[in-house]
Order: sequence, then structure tokens, then C-alpha cells
Amino acid sequence: MTRAEAARRVRKLRQEIRRHDRLYYVEARPEISDAEYDALVRELGDLEARYPDLVTPDSPTQRVAGAPVEAFRPVEHRVAMLSLDNVTSADQLRQFEARVGRALQGPKVGYACEPKVDGLGVALLYRRGRFVRGATRGDGRVGEDITPNLRTIPTIPATIKGRLARAEELELRGEVFMPRVAFEKLNRTLEDAGEPTFANPRNAAAGAVRQKDPAVTARRPLDIVVYHLSYSTGADFDSHWETLAAMREAGFPVNARNQRCKDIDAVIAYCERTELERDGLEYEADGVVVKVDAREAQQRLGSTGRHPRWAVAFKFAPRQGTTVVRGIDVQVGKTGVLTPVAKLDPVELGGVVIRSVSLHNEDEIRRKDVRAGDTVLIERAGDVIPYVVQVVKSKRPRGARSFRFPTRCPACGGVALRPEGEAYWRCVNSACPAQFKERLRHFGSRRAMDIEHLGEAVVEQLADRRLVTNFADLYHLTVKQVAQLEGFAEKSARNLVEAIAASRGRGLARLLNALGIRGVGEHVARLVAARVGSLDRLMTMSEDELSAIRGVGPHLAESVVKFFSDPSNRRVCKRLAAAGVLTTELRPAAGGPLAGKTFVLTGTLSGLTRDTAAELIERRGGRVTESVSGKTDYVVVGEAPGSKAGEARRLGVPMLDERAFRRMVEA
Ligand code: IVH
Repeated sequence: MTRAEAARRVRKLRQEIRRHDRLYYVEARPEISDAEYDALVRELGDLEARYPDLVTPDSPTQRVAGAPVEAFRPVEHRVAMLSLDNVTSADQLRQFEARVGRALQGPKVGYACEPKVDGLGVALLYRRGRFVRGATRGDGRVGEDITPNLRTIPTIPATIKGRLARAEELELRGEVFMPRVAFEKLNRTLEDAGEPTFANPRNAAAGAVRQKDPAVTARRPLDIVVYHLSYSTGADFDSHWETLAAMREAGFPVNARNQRCKDIDAVIAYCERTELERDGLEYEADGVVVKVDAREAQQRLGSTGRHPRWAVAFKFAPRQGTTVVRGIDVQVGKTGVLTPVAKLDPVELGGVVIRSVSLHNEDEIRRKDVRAGDTVLIERAGDVIPYVVQVVKSKRPRGARSFRFPTRCPACGGVALRPEGEAYWRCVNSACPAQFKERLRHFGSRRAMDIEHLGEAVVEQLADRRLVTNFADLYHLTVKQVAQLEGFAEKSARNLVEAIAASRGRGLARLLNALGIRGVGEHVARLVAARVGSLDRLMTMSEDELSAIRGVGPHLAESVVKFFSDPSNRRVCKRLAAAGVLTTELRPAAGGPLAGKTFVLTGTLSGLTRDTAAELIERRGGRVTESVSGKTDYVVVGEAPGSKAGEARRLGVPMLDERAFRRMVEA
């Protein structure tokens, strides 16, 4: 091999490796095995060993091989990393506008608005288009050199393009963060491995970035957005908006939600809308950063010692708060699991009043040492269920006693057991009324049989009066019976009976989820329904046959077989079928109108949940996948779409808005 051939191969290998890094870390859909990946890195390493002059600091070989650093080197920032002044209301945004107006003494200015991603601020230094150094904020003047760790983040370009690449030196600011989905996945993995989990994506990102061994950072799914050009030689722009465009053109991820606003009213509207949509974002955001757009105005405004006068952070309502634990109750779930729940003094977090919070299980209570009387820090992150971050130990009242888990079911008084190796206590009485109520509630829930009007109070009465003692009884309820329940009249009773009747046709997937078989949730139910096709067939299948279904492991197979071997469960299934409940899968197998088509969903659809949309597609023979690729046929774009919409645009994949999508699936 000549040197020129080696150089070509090296370039190709680096490109390949970066692509696979991206597929693995960012898109979580690797195309090659670890061994094949290692072979690529090895081949590159061998070539670089043979031709040392081909080694570049940004080569993938440089980052994994780097020996773990003992301590981070201090680095002085080119320009101090200031923090931002905060505002929390529209009024305060108008006061900000007034301050800016007074200082400039000229016509009104325009603004750029950006989501304030809650991660870790970093400074990236580029020399002649190459990434040479990355640092944490530190005290704002001096930060820590975390270059090797930042090199493992696939979306930080090692070399840049366009106008910025020509500048002798550049320093940019950005936020390193962990996307919410990746964070949840990481926590699940850590939990499965018995390792401590992270309280929120910010902590997870901060922990990953400050790893002593870059190989550990490389395994954490980090991403970045850049939002500020703090220093450059020879690259100047008239506005912040143009700077953002140049950074995007250079190859940096710039937030697609950024918006230019012509006046403060537009800024206020942007802030309000972003706060409303915050749960739909792919990352945690704790506010909006509002910046005066014109660079010349920014320069005239300057900064105080602590923050720029040309920018302000509009902070969303906080979602952390402290409150007092009044007591710890134990609730019985549909499979008999006993869940401890802390009853709280009501506390408002981000517009939602929280009165209770799950403490999950015995070990969790012990680990956090939550006691009645304790003051606790609660967080409600995204659309995630609220949880206890920690106990404020300094506020613990004297004599607060640690919680003792009950050894009897609080609902039926039956024996409770915690099987060896499991985290949960269970009530072992299958006739436990609390379990049945939970199962019935689940049966009618939106993602199962979707029976409107079958709320908690109704379930409670139906079970207590023994009008319903198994699922099939529901379908024999009469208007007269229902009308006698508390809170019902003739008309509302008719509505409920009709809603129950309408649920007959939901199909096998929903029915399987509704039955409450241990381990069979919505996702598994869909897989099984698609493969098996009918309840009759499923009832005769062996563990081996079930385990052969993709996504069904041996534990699940065992659980399904156990469920259907119980005569009372078989009886209920027979009675459901006799009552006219559809026990086959609706999906026209291969011949549906969307057969062979692959869809990706992004953003929120106003009239459909994500799962319903997926179901509509799958029933017509289509497939739903997580990430956009060349193989995607359509991307369905709802409100507040994420980066997938941008990806679709880049790859030229057709996009459907909600109306077009509905037309397609309703055709
Ligand atoms: S601008 C002089 N823009 O918020 C420029 N900051 O409290 C100052 N942040 O330390 C920063 N998203 O870590 C800016 N779009 C954004 C941001 C952002 C998040 C963080 C950043 C900063 C902190 C300010």
C-alpha cells in the first residue's frame, strides 16, 4: 500500500467509525457488531502506526486510547463565562425591554429566543477549523480541561466547515446534555445492573463529562447544542441570528427551536409557548434565553461584572420543591404488588399540585430513609412521575421512626411475601378485592380496552356491590343496574353501558394488555397479537413456542402459560368471547394499505396519542420505527417536533402533518 492509498483508507475509516459512533451513541441503532467496530478501529490504528504522520489529534484512535487523566487541568477562558440575569414573568420581560431601550436610546430592537437547555455549559476552542480544547465553566474565569471527554461526543465536530473554519481561532459556548429518552434508558440499564441511578439528566450529563476515563464518557449518550460565539478572529456577524446560522453551517448542532422575534410581544409568546410544550422537548429545558439580536446593540449594552445586559433568562416554573411527608401508605396493585406511597402536604411543582408520591419498594425507602414527618425534596421532571430526590435530614423531627414494611396485605389482611431476590412484597391472595379493583380499572384504561366513564369511583362500586366479579361481567351490565350506582342517572348509565359495548371491538392486542398478565404490557401485547393472531391459539401455546417470538423472553413465556393454565382465567376468556368481545387481531396481516411502509413519529399530535397513531399505522400493515433513515417512508410531524423533522428534511423523507396523516390512515 502506498502512502497515498493509506491516507485515503485512513480518511475512509475515520468517516466510517464516526458514522458508527453516531449510530451507536446518538441514534441507538448500531448497524455493526462490537467486534466489527473494534476491527475498524484496529485497522485504523495499524495504519497510523505504519504512517505516524497521518495521525491527527481528532482521530478516533486518539480518544479511546487516551490514558485516564488523574485530575483536570485548569484552563483560563478566552472570555469570561458569565451567567444570566433571571426573569420569571411577562412583566419582567417588559422591564428588561425597557432597560435595553433606555440604555440604547434608539429605535426598538429585535430578539433571538432559544430554549435554555438544562445541562452543562462548556467552552469549545477551535484553531483553523480543528477542535483543540474543551472546558467546563468552572468559576466563570477558569474552568477544567475536559477535551478528551468532549471528543467522545459524536455531535461535537472534530473539524468544521464553512466560513468559521477559516478563522484562526474561535471559542464557542454550548450546553452538553443527555436527551431524556437516553437518560431513562441509561437509568434502566444501571438499575438492572444494580448500580445507583441518576436523579435527572443534568446530573447524568455532569457525571459523564467529568469522568476521569474518556472511555466511560464515550458510553454515555451525550449531545450538545451551541448558542454563543464568544471569541473569534476574523469572523464577525451583524446579528446573533446570523451567528447561529454560521455555527450551523460549520457543522455544529444548533437548536432547531430557536426563533427570531421582532419585538417583546413575540418574545413573550415564544416563552409561553415553549413552557407549555416543555414536556414534549427531547431534552430538559428550564427556561428560555432571550438575546438582543443586533451585535452592535449587544456591544453597546456590554455587561455588568456578572451578566450580559443584552440577554436574560426567562425561567419556567420550578419543578422541584420541598414538602412534608404526612404518612406512608401501602397500596395494592393489580398483580398484588404492595407499593409504599408517601402522602404529602400538597405542593405545586410546575403548575401541578402533588399530594402523594410513590416510594416504589422497601429497598428504595430504606435507601432514601424516608420517614413520616420528614421534609423531602420532590421533583417532577418532564412528564415523568414525581419522585423523592432526597430527605432533608436537617429538618427531621426528633423521634421520627423508620418505616416498617407490613407483612400483611393492607386491603384483605392476607399474607404478604417478598420472594427471595425480588424487590417487591406481594399479597398472595388472588381473591384480594383491592387487586381485582386495580385489574378492572386497568382493563378499562385508555391504553387497554379504553372504556370511557369507567373511572375509579365506578370500579369501586361495581366491585363492592359484586355486580362485576370478573371482566366478562362488565359486558352483561344493564342500564338499570348502573343507574342505581352513586353518581349515576339514566342517561349517564346508558353512556357507560354503551362505552362498554363499544370496547368489544378493540382487538387482541388491547385485550391482552387489558387482561393484566404479569409482564405483558402494551408493547409485548402488540408483538404477541401480531404474531399469534387469536386468543384461542395463544391459550394453547407452549413456553417454547412463545419464547420464539421476538421480544418475548423465557420469563414472559412462563408468565403467559401460567396465566392461561389457571382454569378461572380460561373461564373468563371464554366468557369474554361469548359476550362478543373480539379475540382476534385486527391487523390485516401483509396485505394492508400501508404494507411495507415505515413511519417515524415526532412531536405531539393534537387528537391522537403516540400509541394510537402507531396502532393506526400497524393495523394497516405499516411499521413504526424510532429514528429517521434512508429507509423511512414518512415522518409524521406533530406540534413541537424534535430533531427527527430536521433529519427528515435533510434526507428528503416526505413529511406528513396531522391532517395529511389522518387522511392517509382513515382512507
Ligand atoms: S447564553 C453570554 N444561551 O444557561 C452568553 N446560555 O444561566 C451566556 N444556557 O451558563 C449564555 N442554554 O450554561 C445561553 N441558549 C442558551 C443557553 C444557555 C442554556 C445555560 C448556560 C449558561 C446558563 C446561564
